Parts: sequence; structure tokens; C-alpha cells
Amino acid sequence: MRRIMINGSLGQLGSEIAIALRKRYGTDNVILTDIRDDINVELVNSGPFHKVDCRDGERLTELVKEYQVDTIYHLAALLSATAEMRPQMAWDINMNGLMVALEVARSTGCSIFTPSSIGSFGPTTPKDFTPQDTLQRPTSMYGVTKVAGELLCDYYNHKYDVDTRGIRYPGIISNMTPPGGGTTDYAVEIYYAAVNSGRYECPLSGSTYLDMMYMPDAVAAAISIMEADGDRLRHRNAFNVTAMSFCPEEQAAYIRNHIPDFQISYKVDPVKQAIADSWPNSLEDYAARVEWGWEPTYDLHAMTADMITTLKGRM
Ligand code: SER
Repeated sequence: MRRIMINGSLGQLGSEIAIALRKRYGTDNVILTDIRDDINVELVNSGPFHKVDCRDGERLTELVKEYQVDTIYHLAALLSATAEMRPQMAWDINMNGLMVALEVARSTGCSIFTPSSIGSFGPTTPKDFTPQDTLQRPTSMYGVTKVAGELLCDYYNHKYDVDTRGIRYPGIISNMTPPGGGTTDYAVEIYYAAVNSGRYECPLSGSTYLDMMYMPDAVAAAISIMEADGDRLRHRNAFNVTAMSFCPEEQAAYIRNHIPDFQISYKVDPVKQAIADSWPNSLEDYAARVEWGWEPTYDLHAMTADMITTLKGRM
């Protein structure tokens, strides 16, 4: 039986990984931490929760010992667009937060999951079918922290034998907790706007291709890599994973299968567009498939149907 601590547990990814892990391992075996406690109040009140800054190693170590945690999901980070507005803060939270989590893992013997991102790639990376092992010279602060984070996690693995594992997430689409400050947030907002008003003003150009994934697959990936046999992992930090690649025009066309009058217009945000243009169009994720059995369930068609049905039902 695992005992898990999730840092950044109230965010877009954390809130859904928390629910899935609690279903799998039992509510009392999944301890949530976050710097805030005024969002996702239902989740905050549903089991062990502690308001902690992810840079507070002393408090996190106390919690690991108190609850006899053996696995840490370190999900606290600023996303790409916010990081570009506040680069110094992004370094502090993304890097110092990760360093603290790795030190907690090292000193207590925990395994640790850290998400990397398509943001770890840059303009000199091959754009199509981007390989697992390739050039990573990102130009955004978010990307700088993600590449440095991957290297730091690998360092802790070979230097201290800490069981560090990570995946390079694409944009994640979900309907429970909204993302905040990411370049790929548009791919979530578009569904809400389509259901609410039938129109959406997109901050990226219509032909910008990026990798994406529906939340159930993102959650399954995080759980299955941590349950995988460590002896089979050759890469560790971090694995390419993808489920689909599309541009806003294509996503709008799929939405029109459900909402025929849906209209999309474009008002390009130069910061987000520059970030998106520096990222790959589509990843190759063979290593994840071979080394720990990664396989996505949702494509653009299935995800769009599910998002629209869910949001219509709720509104
Ligand atoms: N969704 C993230 C972002 O846009 C990418 O990892 O920042």
C-alpha cells in the first residue's frame, strides 16, 4: 500500500490526480498540500490537507514522517505564460520548490514524480514527431526551469539513487479545475466559450499545432509511471507522452460537429504565440510506450464529445 503526498494538489492536474489516487489507495493514504486553501474547498475538506508553501522543506519533511509517506507527486509550478511575465518568481517556485521536494525525497527515502512539459523543447528542437532524446534549448523561462528540472531529477537518481520519474506533458484539457497561466489554456477555454456563448476569441493563430491530452489520460499516465517496474525505465526524466496534435482551426471544426454555429476569431497574444511557436508541433512517445506501457485513450473526436456533453450537462 502506498502513502502519497501531493504538492500543488489544488491545481488543474493536482486536483484530478488527488481524486484518482484517493480512489485507488484510500482517502487517508493521500495527503494533499497546497499554498492555498480557498479554492476547491470540497477537495480541501475531503481528507488530509495541509496548507504549505512547496519551498518549506521542514514542514514537508514533518508531514512525510507523520503520515509515513513513501511517494511524492510534486506538481507545484507556474505555467508558461505566467512564468514569462514573472521569470524570477518562476525560477524561485519551479526550481527551488523542486529542489526542496527532491531533498525531502532523498532524506526520507520517497519516490518522486515531477511533471516536465512540451515547454522543455525550443526552436531548435525538431518540430514534427519530436524524438525522446533530442535538442532541448528552450527560450521561455518555463522551459528553462523544465529542462533544469529534468536534469536535476536525473542527477538525484544517479547521485543519490532517489527514485525520480517524470513525463513531458502536452497541453492538458479538463473540465474540473481550470488551468491558469499556460500557453495551451486556450484549448480548454474554447469548450467553455462554445457551450456558453457559441463564440471564442483565440489568443493563438488558427494554424498553431501543439500536442494535447485529455485529463483522464494525463492522470492515468502519472499513476502508471509511478507504478511501473523501475528496472524497465531507461529514461526516467522525462518521458515524451502525447495523445493528439491539433491547431485551433481543427479544434473549432470538431466543436462544430456538436455546435454547428460555433464561431472562432483570433486576437493573437504575442507572448503566448512566441512560446507556442518555439514548441514542437507533435511528439513521438515510443519510449513511454515501450518502457512503461503508455497508451492514450482519447483522441480529439472523443475528447470533444466528452467535454461538450459534460459542460452542457453542468450548465
Ligand atoms: N500547459 C502548459 C503551458 O501551457 C505546458 O506544459 O504552460
